[in-house]
Amino acid sequence: MSTTQIFKNPRAQHNFQGRTCSITAVGSYVPERIMTNADMEKIVDTTDEWITTRTGIKERRIAAENEFTSDMAAKAAQRAMERAGVTAAQIDLIIVATITPDMMFPSTACLVQSKIGAKRAAAFDIEAACSGFIYAMEIGQQFIMSRTYETVLIIGAERLSSIVDWKDRNTCVLFGDGAGAAILQHRPDAHGLLTACMGADGDKAMLLCMPGGGSRIPATADSVEAGLHHLQMDGKETFKNAVNAMMSAATEALRRCEIDITQIKLVIPHQANRRIIDAVTERLKVKPDQVFVNLDKYGNTSAASVAIALDEAVQQNRLQRGDLALLVVFGAGLTWAAAVIEW
Ligand SMILES: CC(C)(COP(=O)(O)OP(=O)(O)OC[C@H]1O[C@@H](n2cnc3c(N)ncnc32)[C@H](O)[C@@H]1OP(=O)(O)O)[C@@H](O)C(=O)NCCC(=O)NCCS
Repeated sequence: MSTTQIFKNPRAQHNFQGRTCSITAVGSYVPERIMTNADMEKIVDTTDEWITTRTGIKERRIAAENEFTSDMAAKAAQRAMERAGVTAAQIDLIIVATITPDMMFPSTACLVQSKIGAKRAAAFDIEAACSGFIYAMEIGQQFIMSRTYETVLIIGAERLSSIVDWKDRNTCVLFGDGAGAAILQHRPDAHGLLTACMGADGDKAMLLCMPGGGSRIPATADSVEAGLHHLQMDGKETFKNAVNAMMSAATEALRRCEIDITQIKLVIPHQANRRIIDAVTERLKVKPDQVFVNLDKYGNTSAASVAIALDEAVQQNRLQRGDLALLVVFGAGLTWAAAVIEW
């Protein structure tokens, strides 16, 4: 598809005066262990019926005891690299988006660099919670467009099972573990990432957070006792903000590309709650078969969520090369982002 076919307005072609950035391949990894809603019923006072009707989640994956965020990230990365035909030596930069790094420092990206043997690559983490993968995509794109780097590996990876409070039914049923990765490169025959718009609202930081473990509340016996090293969330407020932010980010991304929703083959939203996805896609007037949903299998895997969904959409042939997809995400911060990509 040529640029003029996609854009009605020549101003929207602005980005394409320079060098474009494409997703050469994607890959994902989820742990083997499945935890169903019936398993949840044995841990907290909940039911499959409650979880299914309020969220759409049926099961989630839980990392093995000795399986950490960097392990899952490296596995997803290797799958993306194989499909892209990219060797470890070709990777210039690794960006890992995560809120559950292996440790406070060094970065999980450095641990991944070692695990995949990408000796030449620079490596750093970013933290934009569930919006992290699209933030990473936009950052990676800048390095490709500016010709600083040829090959950027971006990863969203989470081990949320290590920070949820397994006694809190309000949160523990919602989250899961996993990783998704993409190789970003310039492909002369494709447009790739057409636009990404990102946003944040730090005034609402405390709606969804883990208060302990940073410089404000270092780990002490008291902080552990008070449960400050667990994820905490105001579910109702988070829900409302998610719908509004995803809706406006998606609308802005479409506006910037001068395209309308009918030109989008597939909408791939952050997989947090089926009701959030339905509220956003109904308002965008997206047909149900235009929306990719896999949260029933994985729950909310934060930064990994949209990356795993993109990979599954591609593997299931829901996206063909040349199709346009709208990715839209929301997370703690608050943060949000939307991207239009030509797959
Ligand atoms: C968490 C969420 C599913 C709760 O759904 P909800 O429709 O707002 O729930 P309600 O407030 O109507 O119901 C809450 C009631 O259900 C109970 N409840 C909460 N979790 C439960 C569970 N797992 N099983 C059974 N009951 C549960 C609460 O204790 C509360 O009971 P009460 O009314 O007696 O106090 C929903 O708010 C949500 O998804 N929010 C967004 C979360 C999210 O996506 N976060 C990540 C963003 S990236």
